[in-house]
Amino acid sequence: MNSPLRIALIGAGSMGQQHYQHLQSMTEATLCAVADPGPQAASLAAEWGVAHFADHRQMLEQAKPDAVIVANPNTLHVSTALDCLAAGVPVLLEKPVGVHLDEARELVAASKASGVPVLVGHHRRHNPLIVRAHELVHSGALGRLTTVTALWQLRKPDSYFETPWRREAGAGMLLTNLIHDLDLLRHLCGEVRQVQAITSNAMRGFANEDCAAVLLQFDNGALGSLTGSDAVAAPWSWELDSGENPVYPQHPEQPCYLLAGTGGALSIPQLKRWQYTEADGGWHQPLLATQERFGTEEALRLQLQHFVRVARREVEPLVSAADAARTLALIEAIREAAETGRACAPSLIEG
Ligand SMILES: NC(=O)c1ccc[n+]([C@@H]2O[C@H](COP(=O)([O-])OP(=O)(O)OC[C@H]3O[C@@H](n4cnc5c(N)ncnc54)[C@H](O)[C@@H]3O)[C@@H](O)[C@H]2O)c1
Repeated sequence: MNSPLRIALIGAGSMGQQHYQHLQSMTEATLCAVADPGPQAASLAAEWGVAHFADHRQMLEQAKPDAVIVANPNTLHVSTALDCLAAGVPVLLEKPVGVHLDEARELVAASKASGVPVLVGHHRRHNPLIVRAHELVHSGALGRLTTVTALWQLRKPDSYFETPWRREAGAGMLLTNLIHDLDLLRHLCGEVRQVQAITSNAMRGFANEDCAAVLLQFDNGALGSLTGSDAVAAPWSWELDSGENPVYPQHPEQPCYLLAGTGGALSIPQLKRWQYTEADGGWHQPLLATQERFGTEEALRLQLQHFVRVARREVEPLVSAADAARTLALIEAIREAAETGRACAPSLIEG
């Protein structure tokens, strides 16, 4: 039996504290230190009974963790993760993998050169309902995937935008929120060949987008659309429909993704599957709806359990730095498509 993996937390804000909640109830890992220069961090570390450091490099040298969780601001993700890799320490890096593709590529190269793994925190891929949806799509249960409809439509209160960076260019819903949906679309439906997009800031008037309409063409030929807005009183989004995070009231009957293939269709998060009972069934025959079963374990906890195995080199990361960089490349292609009015292909990421 292994002794518990000693994990340090870099960035003990709201996401870091969620990771801690799961960590403290696990037997396979334990928190060993906190690195965060913020005003609350020292008292949190004292409450949790671990050493506090203002600087993560000092923490790496002195606490010598087996692995780290990086949950600091996005702009620090790559530089922090590079320091950890240089110290030979595996990283669970919160999403997005970076803010720009160039820095994400640097991280991909460093992880490859050092052989030290990075798991990126696109935690929804660990959700049991997504695991089951992935199995269904990849087992051919829907036939040939043909159309994909994704919705991310909700309202953030005005108070959310009182924090200045949330109104700035680049910090809009594409990088903050739709990155999750786009990552899941890549995971479930395959790589995206090209996109067309229109974005708008007409509802709030900030420097970043509050509304986006994206058309996607996947490598396998499927076509998709993603419509998003954080300024609408609507119930269609992973946050409000999946029940993954209890801070959001759930609308479990409402779908956020609809996948349709030649042999069947699937609504997510319900995992209701639609098929014809006859081989050549068509619009004059009734569609049969069946309810797929899935577990209810929490995605963040499952992600952390997976990370322990990644850090012990027992499994490859479900979401590597290169994989997450492909999702970031998709965001950049959408931005470029919206700015130029042209169809754009995501940049290729090696590794
Ligand atoms: N997976 C998800 O669904 C999800 C949800 C929310 C946030 N996030 C990600 O988690 C990260 C943190 O977001 P948050 O909402 O917790 O933000 P937050 O502002 O609540 O916390 C960030 C923390 O980082 C600390 N920090 C700042 N500079 C630091 C440094 N140099 N070294 C160490 N710590 C430093 C701050 O003091 C703060 O405690 C972001 O990258 C965000 O994208 C992911």
